[in-house]
Amino acid sequence: MSKPGQIVLSEDFGVLRQRVPKGPRVVVLYDRNVEQWVERMVEESEEQKQWLLLPLDGGENLKQWVHVEQVLNDFLSRGVDRSWFVVGMGGGTVCDFTGFVASVYMRGLSFGLVPTTLLAQVDAALGGKNGIHLGPYKNTIGCTVLPGWVYCNPLVLETLPPEEFRCGLAECIKHAAIADASYFAFIRDQVVPYLQAAQGPTPQDPPTSKDPVPSDPAPSDSAPSDPAPSDPAPSDPAPSDSAPSAQAPIRLPLPVLKELIATSHRIKMAFVEEDMREQGVRKALNFGHTFGHALAACRPTIRHGQAVACGMALAAAHAVDVGILSQKEYEELVYLLTACGLEITQPCPLREIIPYMLSDKKKQGDDLQLVLLSRLGQYVFVKEPVAKWRNRSRNPGVSLGTGVIPQVSQWLDKVPWVELRLDLMETLSPIALVALRMQCMGKEHRLMLTHPLTSAHPLAPSFAPAQSPGKPALVLAQPSSTSAPTDLPENPQVPPMLAEMLTWGVGWVDIPLDAPASYVQEVTDLARQYGTQIIRSAHFWQLPEQDTAAGTTVADAADLGTMVAGTSGVPSEEILNSLAEKAFFAGADFLKIAVQTRSRQESDALLAWCDRQNAADNRYRVTLMVMGDDALRVRRHALRNGYPFVYASVEAGQATAPGQPSFSELDE
Ligand SMILES: NC(=O)c1ccc[n+]([C@@H]2O[C@H](COP(=O)([O-])OP(=O)(O)OC[C@H]3O[C@@H](n4cnc5c(N)ncnc54)[C@H](O)[C@@H]3O)[C@@H](O)[C@H]2O)c1
Repeated sequence: MSKPGQIVLSEDFGVLRQRVPKGPRVVVLYDRNVEQWVERMVEESEEQKQWLLLPLDGGENLKQWVHVEQVLNDFLSRGVDRSWFVVGMGGGTVCDFTGFVASVYMRGLSFGLVPTTLLAQVDAALGGKNGIHLGPYKNTIGCTVLPGWVYCNPLVLETLPPEEFRCGLAECIKHAAIADASYFAFIRDQVVPYLQAAQGPTPQDPPTSKDPVPSDPAPSDSAPSDPAPSDPAPSDPAPSDSAPSAQAPIRLPLPVLKELIATSHRIKMAFVEEDMREQGVRKALNFGHTFGHALAACRPTIRHGQAVACGMALAAAHAVDVGILSQKEYEELVYLLTACGLEITQPCPLREIIPYMLSDKKKQGDDLQLVLLSRLGQYVFVKEPVAKWRNRSRNPGVSLGTGVIPQVSQWLDKVPWVELRLDLMETLSPIALVALRMQCMGKEHRLMLTHPLTSAHPLAPSFAPAQSPGKPALVLAQPSSTSAPTDLPENPQVPPMLAEMLTWGVGWVDIPLDAPASYVQEVTDLARQYGTQIIRSAHFWQLPEQDTAAGTTVADAADLGTMVAGTSGVPSEEILNSLAEKAFFAGADFLKIAVQTRSRQESDALLAWCDRQNAADNRYRVTLMVMGDDALRVRRHALRNGYPFVYASVEAGQATAPGQPSFSELDE
């Protein structure tokens, strides 16, 4: 008797028949689409003709509880008991499903698998992971039980649709990417030429910024090495009498196909044998899956292999972002995926798939465990704080300053949060306020209220005048002849509209750090009463024509309140530290620093400080709103690095701060 999980790779169906126990008590769960191969399997003897054959509709929908229940009931009504042997024949879905059903029925029947897709032959059927989905959450219910054997016959791939073949290649590329650079080269040099010959030209150029590369990738000064095969392409790889067609099955020469399957077997089983229960190294096989499963949950019609391909490109792009993978190797991976006919353009923004990533099995407490690459052929495990990814899923939001009533509802449907700049809106009549409330009904928790106090400082934003639609919403007061700051009102009242809207249970309220204590207390009490989180903000406006020396400098300012209101330059690290201390000591949930920078260096120094603050306690509570020429670059950095709130305007030309990019410019 062979050891459990043994893999047999053979074109001979007789080898399969020898593996199935003698006698009639055999149930075969098979995909209807492989009926002809089932017939090949049972054609031998009368005994085999008595096997119980149960056809299934293969595909992801099979892996739902309702179908498990149906099959278990069927087993029961047909008298299947523990003396029976189960054979699963089909793609990965049938293999996963069969392994699960066989393992749970009467506490477990012996079973064997006959994978009939490339994906199942190189991956899904190996290693004993059996399972089904829980609604949209992939493979959430399951068990780890090795099949008695796995029989892979490359001939059955003859009928496989080409897009399914390509999905299998995605898993082969995964094995190569995490474990074996020479296998990567084999796929590129020995497999791709046949695909190209069969389906016409595939991209020779490395990917461009349209691909899910980081939106602001590190500059790559060298073109990627020529990933084209070094040997000449096989002269006649496709059947000579058939014109290349995208729908024709992909036929690799048998030796190439067998080497492909066998190499993947070797790589996958090395991980499985070292770590059957997936406590350590086996997790590397999840490369591309955390992103890919989440993508598949968002877009249920996407094929598993296709989702994994896209997931690998996203994971590799993230590895470039965090500085562990070179842009060149990222491009080589993207090239190979694309050359194999795999689509790697993200079907939806990253922010939409992150919530599913955070429900994935790979989340452990406050950490999300990711498998990334440090180079081709070498995986690396990286833990990242969940808080960072939560922020990434919540951005960008939009800031509405004018024409607010007709737009709120539309934007609340479209973006994670909407900032209402109350200072840029007219005071609403009670009826208008009710109308606004009705538009926000059920989504109030996605509103952010910002109502900076009217500061008399010459460079403070002008709050009072309502802006007419289409005009720039933010008006900076002109510097007056005296550039020294004027004090804020001593006992400002919380505006009635703000107080009323806080009772709606909005998500966040922004309270300037320089607001007088009584005002802060009043807004805080209201916010806490209605479950609203508090953002404390500091604004450092810098008009281009202003001479910094003319204003009160930060360093000279005696107390923090004056500093914030009176600052006319970019704050030093010392000041930033004081602001963070003041905000968080007072119980703020978030800190926002708004600055108009004049150079890339100034912006970068601020970003570096924010990155350090966010990573220091893993709570990712500090955000930066840079205004001016550098706004887009800085906000992209903020998005990728999980800053809590990244602001956008609804459209170009409707910015509520100078240089503010539009939502479409920022959305990933
Ligand atoms: N257990 C694991 O370790 C593991 C690993 C990777 C993937 N998976 C799972 O595998 C599943 C994806 O597997 P898949 O891509 O094989 O999908 P699949 O089972 O849906 O098969 C793809 C399609 O090919 C058809 N088909 C299968 N064999 C055929 C053949 N020889 N000729 C013609 N048509 C054929 C099927 O009917 C189906 O329409 C996912 O559910 C994924 O979660 C599991």
